[in-house]
Amino acid sequence: MNFKAIVFSCVALWGATAAVAQTPVYLDDSKPIDQRVEDALSRMSLKEKIAILHAQSKFSAPGVPSLGIPDLWTDDGPMGVRPEVLWDEWDQAGWTNDSCTAFPSLTCLAATWNPEMATLYGKSIGEEARYRNKSVLLGPGVNIYRTPLNGRNFEYMGEDPYLAAQMAADYVRGVQSNGVAVCVKHFALNNHESNRYTTNSIAGDRALYEIYLPAFKAACVDAGAWSLMGGYNLVNGQHATYNQRLVNEILKGEWNWDGAVISDWGAVHDTKQAVEGGLDMEFGTGTDGLTGSGNSYDKYWLANKYYDGVRDGIYSEEQLNDKVRRVLRLNMRTAMNRNRPWGSINSPEHHQACRTIGEEGVVLLKNTDKILPIATDKVKRIAVIGENGIKRMTVGGGSSSLKAQYEIHPLEGLQNRFGNDVEIVYERGYVGDTVTYYNNVWTKQDLRDPRSAEQLVADAVNAAKDADLVLFFGGLNKAYHQDSEGTDRESMDLPYGQNELIEALVAVNPNIVVVNISGTGVAMPWLDKVKAVIQGWYLGNETGNTLAAILAGDVNPSGKLPYTYYASLDQCGAHKLGEYPGTPRHDPIEGDIIDMHYNDDIFVGYRFTEKNKIKPTFPFGHGLSYTTFEYGKATIDRKKGTADDVFTVTIPVTNTGDREGSEIVQLYVSDLKSSLPRPVKELKGFSKVRLAPGQTENVSFEISRDALSYFDDKAHDWVVEPGKFEALVGASAGDIRSKVSFEVQ
Ligand code: BGC
Repeated sequence: MNFKAIVFSCVALWGATAAVAQTPVYLDDSKPIDQRVEDALSRMSLKEKIAILHAQSKFSAPGVPSLGIPDLWTDDGPMGVRPEVLWDEWDQAGWTNDSCTAFPSLTCLAATWNPEMATLYGKSIGEEARYRNKSVLLGPGVNIYRTPLNGRNFEYMGEDPYLAAQMAADYVRGVQSNGVAVCVKHFALNNHESNRYTTNSIAGDRALYEIYLPAFKAACVDAGAWSLMGGYNLVNGQHATYNQRLVNEILKGEWNWDGAVISDWGAVHDTKQAVEGGLDMEFGTGTDGLTGSGNSYDKYWLANKYYDGVRDGIYSEEQLNDKVRRVLRLNMRTAMNRNRPWGSINSPEHHQACRTIGEEGVVLLKNTDKILPIATDKVKRIAVIGENGIKRMTVGGGSSSLKAQYEIHPLEGLQNRFGNDVEIVYERGYVGDTVTYYNNVWTKQDLRDPRSAEQLVADAVNAAKDADLVLFFGGLNKAYHQDSEGTDRESMDLPYGQNELIEALVAVNPNIVVVNISGTGVAMPWLDKVKAVIQGWYLGNETGNTLAAILAGDVNPSGKLPYTYYASLDQCGAHKLGEYPGTPRHDPIEGDIIDMHYNDDIFVGYRFTEKNKIKPTFPFGHGLSYTTFEYGKATIDRKKGTADDVFTVTIPVTNTGDREGSEIVQLYVSDLKSSLPRPVKELKGFSKVRLAPGQTENVSFEISRDALSYFDDKAHDWVVEPGKFEALVGASAGDIRSKVSFEVQ
């Protein structure tokens, strides 16, 4: 080698070393994320920018290969990580390593009224998503329970904005601690499933800000959700997914939120509207990659059409860059985060989390003659009746359908718990849903039954006759028109002749306990004739063991209802005052749509029943225990050291029974005189306290400005009016134990 060559090699080597030493800013995770985003953005071509804004398969969007930015993988959500589907189709891919832990339904989580359960839930499901290498988990669902008919109530957190907000925020924090983004859904006013693509939800600002937005705000602003999914519906005439008001003005404007807005799957219908309405990523547009000519994903509204529009100057590059920044930020927070933990799946900890959350969420609605817990010294023969005693519920219901690693149904749970101590006979009583495959996932059971309906009832009655105790496991399931996406229920009645069956059982045996498996309220015309009722939700893998532990008294029930249990639909404002399921109309831009006026306004759930002095079957917040709690007298103090109107309410609560238990103490606030109509009272605090027999705890709540204000739609601001208020503390909205008034100056 001559001298020149040696010098050249040295220089080349120095150059290479320098290149290695200099990590590009966008890859340098010691740098602030926005700096990294700007750097990545500056290196991307127009084509690359457009590419990351839309799907490349059913659940993934491409990264930026030239920069080594990985693809972004999403997956449902919200109660377990969905099994892999084919690249271009909804059917399962048939993998053998994608089974998951199925956690309890989100209504059950809300029924725990315990934010620690929300953290545990989020952390656990986030670990499963991370293990499966998903960057975005499509959940939680936080739409308000406006009608008991909504097919997706089980994916949401009940009727009260305060409760839903507290639970949603901790779910979000739990998931995102894994470097996995939540995608909080479905923004907004998406409160039923019938006509879900064409419903135009029309609501005023008070309803929007006081009822329908707080859980989204808590998830996005307080907990910092990294992405959000727009709903299929329209809101005040414009599609929710790219609604000027909702997305641009409120979410990205007033809330100054820096996450990415993801469309629901197939919710985009127009390039201009989507671009200008604040949508950042498009998924699921009604085309499968394999159909038609060319790559169907290029035909998405935010694909070639958007590229052409930017190139031709119809859409600005600045507007495009805002979307790209949001998607890059999402990617850096998740897929590109080298420090995120590895996650885990189907671990004993996750199965235990499923059980713990379920045990805290199950609600004992009625318990006459202390028939529960089951007295094994007296009960020697139990007749278990009802299809839900043996039905596996983790499969079905739409996008939340799962491939659970295992699922213990109630009968198995009872057999595990009672073993040989008690004779257990089973009769089905009716045939409901016998589906064996859902999106190619096998339920692992064949529920077909050759018997006639009459024979099934006769066999059930026969089994019940000689039993010491009848446990009826009924309710709904995940079939269409039940607890299922895409359709609403057709009435509040139990399907498949269950009411008649219960009446027939009651006629031969008065010792009957009904365990209602559903994610929403059902009519209970037989309520006075049965001894006990349990709201059993959908409890995931550990369903049977969870319910057996409650029935046996190994666990003292402590869940409370996250929604009002109506006796009939006309107790519910959406039905009494509304136009459910809406009025069809032809819109010059959107075509045939269905107007749904939210005439119930802010009076949703107990806010409606209390205003109209309606007595529901069970009030919001109701739930019993195997022990009893006594509430003392509430006292109130102006909080020391605060100039503002901040108060502390304190109440002693004592366990007066003979076993340990948890009580959910609820604080409601009532504005005694206000310029605008306000609910009789509103939930503004809750605390779950565990007490040993005889133990007393002073439970305290803080009442600050947030708890006193209402949204003044004319002033477009939250307002606290001076004057008299009342703090009401109780065991449910219908069971106030102590009140104390106070004056706001
Ligand atoms: C549902 C979403 C879901 C998406 C992807 C849609 O039909 O509305 O909640 O995340 O599908 O499966």
